Amino acid sequence: MQAENSRPGPSGLMTRPRTYFVKTFGCQMNVYDSQRMSDALGSMGYVEAQGPDDADLVLLNTCHIREKAAEKVYSEVGRLKKARDQRRAEGGDMLIGVAGCVAQAEGQEIVARAPAVDLVFGPQNYHRLPDFVARAASGETVVETEFPVEDKFAALPRAKPEQVRSRGVTAFLTIQEGCDKFCTFCVVPYTRGAEFSRPAERILAEARELADAGVRELTLLGQNVNAYHGEGTDGAEWNLARLLHALAEIDGIERLRYTTSHPRDMDDELIAAHRDLAELMPYLHLPVQSGSDRMLALMNRKHDRVLYFDIVNRLRDACPDIALSSDFIVGFPGESDADFADTMDLVRQVGFVQAFSFKYSARPGTPAANMDEQVPDDVSSARLAELQALLREQQAGFAASRVGRTMHVLLERDGRKPGQLVGRSPWLQPVVVEAPQSLTGEMVTVTVKSAGSNSLFADLVDSTIYRERPPAAAAAF
Ligand code: 5AD
Ligand code: SF4
Repeated sequence: MQAENSRPGPSGLMTRPRTYFVKTFGCQMNVYDSQRMSDALGSMGYVEAQGPDDADLVLLNTCHIREKAAEKVYSEVGRLKKARDQRRAEGGDMLIGVAGCVAQAEGQEIVARAPAVDLVFGPQNYHRLPDFVARAASGETVVETEFPVEDKFAALPRAKPEQVRSRGVTAFLTIQEGCDKFCTFCVVPYTRGAEFSRPAERILAEARELADAGVRELTLLGQNVNAYHGEGTDGAEWNLARLLHALAEIDGIERLRYTTSHPRDMDDELIAAHRDLAELMPYLHLPVQSGSDRMLALMNRKHDRVLYFDIVNRLRDACPDIALSSDFIVGFPGESDADFADTMDLVRQVGFVQAFSFKYSARPGTPAANMDEQVPDDVSSARLAELQALLREQQAGFAASRVGRTMHVLLERDGRKPGQLVGRSPWLQPVVVEAPQSLTGEMVTVTVKSAGSNSLFADLVDSTIYRERPPAAAAAF
């Protein structure tokens, strides 16, 4: 192995193995993809560098969703070029690659604008990484952004158990990719392509491997995760609810989450799963974007505010403890003060425990970019500030409402101070617990004693560790 990983040095002796660094921007799908790319590089003999400047190969896994996110890649390439010049002066080198959604959307333009880049490839091409790296290493500038037909998930190498273990007891698992909804502001249908659901058998196999390596909480990922409609193990088409039931059966998997969902795909079975499955955490990220019916129509969201309220009510009937989070866009073309007031009203009526809110950013090639009545930036900024103040208030109110409650926390990692461990509440809040390090990776029972601005602080109730699946009634107190 050593001989394969290493390069002959000037004297013919073997030197250090090749190193890589993957820097991730954007959403959790990119985090998952970066891990798969790392696994692929690991199986090619690469080892992870401490940081980008120390690596022989740096991959930027990029995000194209808003202009600011997309621009980050160019400033990062500029910075890397300087690090590469330095390495070259010292007799070394560095390959710079751009992957992800900017790569998919801009392709050749990236090498035109940033000639330091050696390879550009989109999210549907990750399984061809070994070929791309070999070509780039021999001096070719590689640009690969077409959508090949083969199932990249099947072709990507899986993580080794020790790699999974080093990533802790929670894991992401992509089950669906792409989007057929075509919201008028969004680049995803163009960068990630049409909706594709992985067959259930492959997802279950990957989940079993993760569980065997110690993973206890799985977050299922997809741009439209609740539109999942993959081939089931019985040959029938399975929806997300069916898949969640099968995943909950896996020994060792004690918590399930899924993100990101579209309101139109919240079917009855999925809502019922929030009542019936103890493993399914009482938390749902359900982007609404706007509370104005006029905006929702212009955004092509395919639902109105009444439908959103109806889903929220049905979810709360099924699972009274469920907490909701959402995404919002302010300053969408044509948004008036009255439209924005509708958004504020929706937020007040629903009450969100967490949210992401953005100023509308015109994305080239999307229908909204050409709409009349783009909203002036100062108006969008003022609306964003007002919305975020309300959302922050709701988040703090929810955190305060947890004080005094007893709940399960899955302890994931060391806290900032010695003697502290940090885990997540059922509602995804970070919880800081005074606990011995031996409890890392364990599900414990805690009582929350106070709420800070981003975390809860809690005491261990007893030393009970839930090695078995917690009983249904207790899973999410
Ligand atoms: N401008 C601003 N926000 C956007 N989002 C997606 N596209 C845009 C855009 N053009 C936001 C949406 C989405 C989240 C992932 O990013 O709120 O839910
Ligand atoms: Fe983008 Fe809309 Fe698809 Fe979400 S549902 S990925 S916002 S087009």
